Amino acid sequence: MTEHHAPRSRPPVGRARVVNRLMAMYDEPRYLEIGVCSGRTFDRARAATKVAVDPAFEFDPSDPARVVAGTEYHQVTSDEYFGTVVAPDRQFDVIFLDGLHTVEQTLRDLTNALHHLQPRGVVVIDDVRPSSHLAAIPDRQLFFAVRNRLGTTAQDWMGDVFRLVLAIETFFQQLSYATVEDNHGQAIVWRKRRASVPDRALAAVGRWTFEELLLHEESLRLRPFAHILRELRSDLGLDPD
Ligand SMILES: C[S@@+](CC[C@H](N)C(=O)[O-])C[C@H]1O[C@@H](n2cnc3c(N)ncnc32)[C@H](O)[C@@H]1O
Repeated sequence: MTEHHAPRSRPPVGRARVVNRLMAMYDEPRYLEIGVCSGRTFDRARAATKVAVDPAFEFDPSDPARVVAGTEYHQVTSDEYFGTVVAPDRQFDVIFLDGLHTVEQTLRDLTNALHHLQPRGVVVIDDVRPSSHLAAIPDRQLFFAVRNRLGTTAQDWMGDVFRLVLAIETFFQQLSYATVEDNHGQAIVWRKRRASVPDRALAAVGRWTFEELLLHEESLRLRPFAHILRELRSDLGLDPD
């Protein structure tokens, strides 16, 4: 399995840097992270209010050190959080989607996130640019079985979240998006309508392959993170610094 990303001259922009640069656009940022794991990004996120959602945190959310004003932990799936936990009218400025990496789950996470996103807010979707055919296997168990058979530990599971970008491009005309080029591939989504959408069947989105993604990478709208921040500033009328 070869990596398809071009070698980079500068270090990749880390997840925490991405969310913190976005958060800096808001006065008292309200942050929601779906899929938190050990808190590597969440603990570095600087926001007035922070909400963590994960059915299996890799830490004890009741640890007294974590009981901080403005910070909440919900040990539930994203479906449970959006379906029964969050107040129906609660709004966030930055929502980071990094839970279960299937197109079905992330599509539902995105539609739920949009309901709770303030009009000038942004959604970040992790892992939309799989590093290899192996990383893009949609089924997590199958990914591990194949990885074990290959005897490699070099790849992380990224799943078929890339298909969500195709779904946004095709069916969410009121949204604009771009994918961070100078990291592992995070899509940033905001509200601004696009003049046109591609003519593509729903089934084609669901069947889109890793190979097709490689050959039509323009659908990801890859941009350096600094360019995306400028685009956001212009489209949303926000100051990113
Ligand atoms: C890639 S890790 C998250 C990494 C974290 N965002 C970071 O930046 O360090 C994915 C996490 O998603 C969680 N997860 C799996 N299914 C989920 C679901 N249905 N809803 C929310 N989180 C889920 C897993 O328990 C795991 O901790």
